Amino acid sequence: MARPHCAVVVLLLLAVVSGLEEGASNPGFVARITRKGLEYARQYGVAILKKELSTIELPDFSGSIKVSWIKIMSYEFYRLKIHDFELRNSDLRLCPRQGVRASLSNNYVSVSGNWKIKKAFISFDGTFDMKVDDICISAFLNLGKDQSGRLTASMAHCNNSIGHISIDISGKLSWILNLFHERIENKFKNILEQKICEMVGKATTSRLEPYLQTLPVISMIDQVASIDYSLIGAPQVTSQVLDTPFKGEFFGQNGHSRAPFDAPPIRLPEKHDYMVYFAISEYVFNTASWVYHQAGYMNFTIQNQHMQNLTRLASKPSAEKWRERYLGSTCLTSNSALLTTSCISSSLLLLLQISPDSPIHLHTSSFPVLVPQLARMYPNMELELEMSPESAPLLMFTPGNVTLMPVIDVQAFALKPNSSDRKPLFQLRVTTSISATINVSSDRIVGSVTPGSKLKLELKHSNINFIDVELMEVILNYYALHTIYPSLNAKLEEGFPLPLPVDTYLNSSELQVHENFLLLVANLDY
Ligand SMILES: *[C@@H]1O[C@H](CO)[C@@H](O)[C@H](O)[C@H]1NC(C)=O
Ligand SMILES: *[C@@H]1O[C@H](CO)[C@@H](O)[C@H](O)[C@H]1NC(C)=O
Ligand SMILES: *[C@@H]1O[C@H](CO)[C@@H](O)[C@H](O)[C@H]1NC(C)=O
Ligand SMILES: *[C@@H]1O[C@H](CO)[C@@H](O)[C@H](O)[C@H]1NC(C)=O
Ligand SMILES: *[C@@H]1O[C@H](CO)[C@@H](O)[C@H](O)[C@H]1NC(C)=O
Ligand SMILES: *[C@@H]1O[C@H](CO)[C@@H](O)[C@H](O)[C@H]1NC(C)=O
Ligand SMILES: *[C@@H]1O[C@H](CO)[C@@H](O)[C@H](O)[C@H]1NC(C)=O
Repeated sequence: MARPHCAVVVLLLLAVVSGLEEGASNPGFVARITRKGLEYARQYGVAILKKELSTIELPDFSGSIKVSWIKIMSYEFYRLKIHDFELRNSDLRLCPRQGVRASLSNNYVSVSGNWKIKKAFISFDGTFDMKVDDICISAFLNLGKDQSGRLTASMAHCNNSIGHISIDISGKLSWILNLFHERIENKFKNILEQKICEMVGKATTSRLEPYLQTLPVISMIDQVASIDYSLIGAPQVTSQVLDTPFKGEFFGQNGHSRAPFDAPPIRLPEKHDYMVYFAISEYVFNTASWVYHQAGYMNFTIQNQHMQNLTRLASKPSAEKWRERYLGSTCLTSNSALLTTSCISSSLLLLLQISPDSPIHLHTSSFPVLVPQLARMYPNMELELEMSPESAPLLMFTPGNVTLMPVIDVQAFALKPNSSDRKPLFQLRVTTSISATINVSSDRIVGSVTPGSKLKLELKHSNINFIDVELMEVILNYYALHTIYPSLNAKLEEGFPLPLPVDTYLNSSELQVHENFLLLVANLDY
């Protein structure tokens, strides 16, 4: 009855991995699974496999036996039912450049059912119990990517062997069958051997593959942009980690035009204390900036109506205090911490030398002291200021800090009443520094921005003689704080999703800013 002992039962999940294609660009996003993460995958995988293997439908089997004094009898085993399929010892290992190897040892299955023997018109029946030990399974799984950049998994090869079977047949005349237990066990062994690999293959196609297919390839962000999470290469395996390289690129809804820059190389740190590490390149953020800039979402127009709240803020009781404290608009000349809308509105009132109760208008006649020429040249017209970045602002990642230094063009116009005609007045160049904070909220990357400095203005061109740059600075800073930053933050708060398969919950622990990328360190939740 003894079978060759199968000491190590191996389930090989062998990812066939290839290098990045020649000339392939750098990924915008890398998902790194560590050995700790693999341990989580092992528990998850074993649970799935156990469930699948317990549902194996074992077919009836029959045969005939020759008992000299009865001649030939036919037997049948039917209603075979698996009671327990135990996957006892399992281990999942990374094999550099090859893939992942999972070992399962000392597996056990118990089966029960009915038997029947027949000879002419006579038949006897009974029940049986079977215990199978030391089941060996070895399966090879190919991990790769398909043409659309989707992660794929398929079983490339599977074999198994069965160690020890013991069958316990009971009922009248069961002793006859017991004489032939070895032949019956062999028959059963063949059936089981055939079924196990079939089930492993089925679990791959019915469970693993659909699960991987839930990884998003294209995620729509809004009516302007989508993000492309297709794989740019097959997963890479080292002895410590499995890295999956995603494109991680924003593109506009109208056409697939690409940002005119490439993703920089990413150097992930060597420490692997957590299950997963996500490296999000500055490329992801910069392609987003590029797409929104192209779509005109960074163009702002300041009109008279936007000034309404300025006086409201300035007429608060604190205005008087600000007036004393920031006489000469010190809030605009000192550090960014003092950049507040009430400080700025007080400054504006001081500049214009009007009382907090007088409304401020973006109007040619509103600045008689500061820009006397304006009212003469363009009497009784509203003013409009158009702001547009010279180019898509790029985020700069330096260890610990994310900053932007946009350069913005401002064009001022006088609006002719009841006409779309506008008179260009002057052009300014605005520079500033913006500091960005990036955070993770459930499975999305979200952000917020705060001023790193006030807006600094420089006159580029003017059609009127005298421009009070200081006054413009106050107006634009007010508008930036009051309208641009809140609207940017509302957008950034929505964020964008991480490429995760369904039902994956991150327990993120840390977000670090590295040179040219952001590192999200997380564990997976059970
Ligand atoms: C599967 O086949 C390979 C070689 O073909 C052999 O080395 C391995 O031991 C087999 N595994 C099992 C579980 O039979
Ligand atoms: C944004 O404004 C600039 C300057 O006025 C203009 O050249 C550009 O076409 C605008 N972008 C869009 C998409 O409207
Ligand atoms: C003025 O402020 C109110 C409340 O803060 C806001 O709802 C409104 O949109 C603002 N108006 C303008 C023109 O910014
Ligand atoms: C981040 O930037 C600020 C301002 O530029 C600087 O003071 C600070 O040292 C920087 N932090 C790090 C960690 O580099
Ligand atoms: C502009 O149109 C409004 C009505 O739409 C009219 O009352 C006003 O007189 C017009 N102004 C000029 C300058 O034509
Ligand atoms: C990031 O988000 C978490 C909750 O999602 C919050 O507790 C934390 O304060 C945020 N960090 C920053 C820097 O905003
Ligand atoms: C998330 O991780 C922290 C420690 O890193 C742990 O205390 C907490 O229980 C985890 N949360 C969940 C839901 O697993």
